[in-house]
Amino acid sequence: MHERRLFHQLSLLFFLILSCFLLYHLFSIQPVEQPFHQNLMFIPHSESYNYTYPTHLLASNDYTTLVNYSFTFDRLNTGCNDSTLLLILIHSSPGNFRKRTVLRSTWAQKNEWTKILFVMGRTENETIQKELTRENDSYGDLIQGSFLDTYRNLTYKHITCLKYAIYHCPQAKYILKCDDDIFVNMPLLKNFLNFDLSPFGVSNAILCPLKHLAPVLRTYRSKWRVSFEEYPEITYPDYCLGWAILYSPDVIFQLYKSAQNSLNIFWIDDVYITGTMVAKINVFHTDISDLVITWEDQKYLVSKNGYPRKDFLLGRPDLTESELRALWKRVTSLEAPKSIWRRSVAEGYVR
Ligand SMILES: *[C@@H]1O[C@H](CO)[C@@H](O)[C@H](O)[C@H]1NC(C)=O
Ligand SMILES: *[C@@H]1O[C@H](CO)[C@@H](O)[C@H](O)[C@H]1NC(C)=O
Ligand SMILES: *[C@@H]1O[C@H](CO)[C@@H](O)[C@H](O)[C@H]1NC(C)=O
Ligand SMILES: *[C@@H]1O[C@H](CO)[C@@H](O)[C@H](O)[C@H]1NC(C)=O
Ligand SMILES: *[C@@H]1O[C@H](CO)[C@@H](O)[C@H](O)[C@H]1NC(C)=O
Repeated sequence: MHERRLFHQLSLLFFLILSCFLLYHLFSIQPVEQPFHQNLMFIPHSESYNYTYPTHLLASNDYTTLVNYSFTFDRLNTGCNDSTLLLILIHSSPGNFRKRTVLRSTWAQKNEWTKILFVMGRTENETIQKELTRENDSYGDLIQGSFLDTYRNLTYKHITCLKYAIYHCPQAKYILKCDDDIFVNMPLLKNFLNFDLSPFGVSNAILCPLKHLAPVLRTYRSKWRVSFEEYPEITYPDYCLGWAILYSPDVIFQLYKSAQNSLNIFWIDDVYITGTMVAKINVFHTDISDLVITWEDQKYLVSKNGYPRKDFLLGRPDLTESELRALWKRVTSLEAPKSIWRRSVAEGYVR
């Protein structure tokens, strides 16, 4: 009888101590605030690092294959060298002459640390095809793959970019894939790559404005309508808004290898390459939505000679010619900050 009571009291005491312990822990756990850049999944490299694409892992006919088509570069320009920090591949359509002209005279003008090329497919319009020859002669910055340039073939265009990076610009430490109607803050991007990332490159990196839990569009009115046969799920995996994606070479290679070996490709390239394929190779996106200019700042910079309230790497998509020119003029007249993340952290800005 006595022993039983003692046991009872002891277990009560034990439970009391346990509860105190648990309660203490519950209330003492405080969210640890971490600066944004410490949560990144990529690895910055140092001077001794040198990545080479392991092309021996690809099929022997890989260069002349694009997933399930035979492939050639109808137009090819090369010229990366050891000072190429960044390769910029701009998705364009054969007929977008004006857009390319605007970019060449604004943010995408030639410089010594980047190689900038416009990537497109074939056109059946002979007038345009002739114009392209002239354009290529004048600027030498076109890449044309042997697939028909349609929006249903966008994934082939994206894989052509990956192919080009691997075979024709292995020196580049970073690869930016973007569209021909966007704005890139080049002075700041240069500092961002050198100071926030690393001048020797990084690995595991795919930086982009990220789309989370996007529903699959089923309405017939949309150009981006997708049938249930094409994509049965309700939402897409996390993917990059494809108008600006910054890749590290190792990610380029893994995505390319994976895409080349797949049986069923999905035509929305953002979803397929930066969603489905990225999930498959087990790499994590770094969301840089924060580095896209705000509507207010963009309006302000375009219409007045104001200062942006927040540093930005990218303009908003679908810019008009005059907006692009105004942004470029403004950005080149301001001094670019040395770094974005470190400075933000120093100023107490925590994501
Ligand atoms: C495009 O221009 C480059 C550089 O001038 C040249 O090497 C290449 O042959 C041209 N391609 C075509 C198809 O004209
Ligand atoms: C490397 O390429 C850049 C253009 O991308 C050019 O300005 C530079 O002169 C080249 N450097 C060498 C050493 O060839
Ligand atoms: C070819 O493109 C030109 C210029 O964009 C256009 O004016 C013409 O109508 C097109 N021709 C055909 C057959 O589509
Ligand atoms: C995509 O490109 C291939 C190769 O040129 C072509 O056969 C096919 O018709 C194109 N698809 C679309 C939807 O245009
Ligand atoms: C290649 O694959 C795509 C999509 O999976 C398909 O629509 C197309 O018909 C295929 N083309 C060839 C030549 O096999």
